[in-house]
Amino acid sequence: MQKILVAHDGSKSSDKALKRAVEFAVKFNASLTVLSVIPELYLTEIAEADKQKISNSLSKETTEAMEKIRKSLSGKSIEVKTLVRQGDPAEKILETAQKMKADVIVTGSHGRHGTKKFLMGSVSSKIVDYSKCPVFVVK
Ligand SMILES: Nc1ncnc2c1ncn2[C@@H]1O[C@H](COP(=O)(O)OP(=O)(O)OP(=O)(O)O)[C@@H](O)[C@H]1O
Ligand SMILES: [Mg+2]
Repeated sequence: MQKILVAHDGSKSSDKALKRAVEFAVKFNASLTVLSVIPELYLTEIAEADKQKISNSLSKETTEAMEKIRKSLSGKSIEVKTLVRQGDPAEKILETAQKMKADVIVTGSHGRHGTKKFLMGSVSSKIVDYSKCPVFVVK
């Protein structure tokens, strides 16, 4: 195992996934890519200018969160890369995994939005369904 992709959406569950992915990276001497996808806004009622403002602030928040993660891992003896993308989260995660030839995708079972009613959120479910590489869902 050389390349690990971990999907991070700022949720507690994705923090757990990150922690586990770091353990794997250390153990296998693998590189770690942390990806956060900013979902597109489908808010038709909102004016374009306001959408842009929301989008910019989400983008800033996400970039800062990734920077924080990168700093927190700087003491570890692993190669860490952070990525921010925009679009459909599952699609971007799957696309990134293919492009970087990830050996495993690590996700949390739940994220920021869903209820615990389901075993898994829709993003992690879609990743498990469509990924071409193994997926490790942290519970
Ligand atoms: N925007 C995102 N960027 C990166 N990773 C994400 C993103 N959204 C979800 N994930 C990954 O998928 C995991 C599960 O989150 P998911 O979104 O599927 O659940 P949820 O938010 O509880 O439910 P849902 O979004 O279906 O309402 C997260 O812990 C994270 O690893
Ligand atoms: Mg979600």
